[in-house]
Amino acid sequence: MKSNLVLVGFMGAGKSVIGKTLAKMLEMDIVDTDKMIESKMNMKINEIFEKYGEEYFRNIETEIAKDCLNFSNTIISTGGGIVLKEENINYLKQNSVVFLLNASAETIYDRVKNKTDRPLLKVENPLEKIKEMLEFRKKYYEGSADHIITTDNKSIMEVSSEIKKIYITN
Ligand code: S3P
Repeated sequence: MKSNLVLVGFMGAGKSVIGKTLAKMLEMDIVDTDKMIESKMNMKINEIFEKYGEEYFRNIETEIAKDCLNFSNTIISTGGGIVLKEENINYLKQNSVVFLLNASAETIYDRVKNKTDRPLLKVENPLEKIKEMLEFRKKYYEGSADHIITTDNKSIMEVSSEIKKIYITN
């Protein structure tokens, strides 16, 4: 059995909260690639985007994806754009089963609309932007996933139990 469990998916798909629940259920450690980036840079994601731009952020994200090769028995919750580089997915897949958390644009909008920590959604019409980004990223998300989990209208426990069942029989 591959030792880590990676969660990918769009911002607001529930990766962090599902990751925490799964870590308890499966008695695994948990890391979050955005938090690893923030610790490495000693800066918040927003500040990194503002000061250095997205490309710079993406390069650090790749270094962090590579660092994930050192983990075992760990849930790895990722930033929503990690799937955009094949190199990142190649690192993550080496020792992990990858679960994609899917949600509709409307569900995502509902979950992120009152938050200010998503630099890419600081635009006039966030719902439109989410739709465009989801459309563009669909092939990257689906291409990276070993398993696809739909989260719309499901509770945290339902989604986590579904993932646990697949993971332990893998
Ligand atoms: C991003 C998602 C964010 C964070 C950054 C870029 C993206 O992570 O990595 O703002 O490109 O989708 P979350 O998915 O945890 O919000």
